[in-house]
Amino acid sequence: MSLYDDIDLSSVFASFQRLQASPPGPDISGTLSGGEELSRFSFGEDPASGGNSRLHSAARNEFADTGYSQYSFLRDQPITYNGRETFDVQAIRKDFPIFNQKINGKDLIWFDNAATTQKPQQVIDAIKHYYEHDNSNIHRAAHTLAARSTDQYEGAREKVKDFIHAASSEEILFVRGTTEGINLVAQTYGRKFIYPGDEIIVSTLDHHANIVPWQQLAKEKNAHLLVIPVNDKGEIILEEYERLLSPRTKIVSFGQVNNTFGTISPAKTMIDMAKRYGARVLIDGAQSIAHTAVDVQDLDVDFFVFSGHKIYAPNGIGVVYGKKELLELIPPWQSGGNMIKDVTFEETVFNVPPHKFEAGTPNVADAIGLGAALDYVSRVGIHNIEKYEHYLTEYARKELGQIDGIRLIGNPRERISVVSFIIPGIPTPEVGKLLDLEGIALRAGHHCAQPALRRLGVEATVRPSFAFYNTTAEIDKLVVAVNNILRTTFS
Ligand SMILES: Cc1ncc(COP(=O)(O)O)c(C=O)c1O
Repeated sequence: MSLYDDIDLSSVFASFQRLQASPPGPDISGTLSGGEELSRFSFGEDPASGGNSRLHSAARNEFADTGYSQYSFLRDQPITYNGRETFDVQAIRKDFPIFNQKINGKDLIWFDNAATTQKPQQVIDAIKHYYEHDNSNIHRAAHTLAARSTDQYEGAREKVKDFIHAASSEEILFVRGTTEGINLVAQTYGRKFIYPGDEIIVSTLDHHANIVPWQQLAKEKNAHLLVIPVNDKGEIILEEYERLLSPRTKIVSFGQVNNTFGTISPAKTMIDMAKRYGARVLIDGAQSIAHTAVDVQDLDVDFFVFSGHKIYAPNGIGVVYGKKELLELIPPWQSGGNMIKDVTFEETVFNVPPHKFEAGTPNVADAIGLGAALDYVSRVGIHNIEKYEHYLTEYARKELGQIDGIRLIGNPRERISVVSFIIPGIPTPEVGKLLDLEGIALRAGHHCAQPALRRLGVEATVRPSFAFYNTTAEIDKLVVAVNNILRTTFS
């Protein structure tokens, strides 16, 4: 089964053919403004393809189900995944001390993982150990604790680099989270390279964190914000995306996984398409990082951002990955200590990336916590997590889908760890409160994704979202609780 077998591929391929026949290289003579980024107009043709674009084969491969469509493949299989062989969910749960408590007299069921994840003891211990033994400012002092702290902080950067397969740890910037990361890129890359009349593309599926910073920048720069439409299932419409792309496109910024329906967007294809027009691409990885393997080099993405707290790490730490040559090209964001090489009252010489982007005392402890979380996830195995969570999500969709009186919202073919539903006749916050009485924590509201919800005709949903410490038994309890709410409300 093809990933996009319900869309009209012929028109997509026809437009790719057009692109191949006449690559859309803009006429750059006389168009380069002062801050124009020359390199964005190199299309990176593969010489071995005799001038044919890499886009065509990349797109064809993805449509042919060889890429990330493992989800479709899994969906067609009977569920034979046996947790006890490689993945012992009960053992994993013991690592999360937060589950040793009752909420309203019931076992805590944490189904609010798309909002934030719980922390394993290993992460808590890493932070505790740091404050008990190593706490110091980094990089500057000559003493032992400074050296230890610096080593651990830079060690965490190395771990992030390995986890997302960046080419160098100099490409990894620590920030507070996804929101700050997108703002950093908008305020540095965007401020320098976006000019009046330029176009910025985001998607209908995006979180407000990937809409508002670009909207503000577009206003400031007299640029235009264009939005990729989605279909009734909550999937990107690739043909429409292609129609939006043009030589005026400066940056395409979109979420790899949507937080409301769990849609996985065809990131690699979308990046390849953007590059045909010389556009830069930012991926919001807030919802993908904990659920699927990320390889920034394979994606060939310019910027990739995520939050630590979505992947079992503390709040207040996140990452911007940026290609080295881009980070060298763009100005610093905040300025002050730590990001300089030399300061006089006349002039400042900035440090090199990543330090150029990390002004002030960084969040050392939580960066170390992030490193510990990535170690933990790597030990469990991101592919095991992906498979197990896929199984949970399909189970939840099946069980919830059988309840009369609720409506599932969004039905993307490729999805991760999220189910959204409404109970017509009961406001979603009310459903959230009633489920809390059963110890079930989930999000009921607009999920900071109002345009996505409105596109599918609703203002809010109830959203259970799953992590690898959840179980089918917990989903069964949710199903029982929802049935009880329906019975008591409507009988
Ligand atoms: C897709 C997506 N992008 C961005 C964010 C914002 O992340 P943070 O609040 O950690 O900055 C979220 C958080 O829910 C998200 O789901």
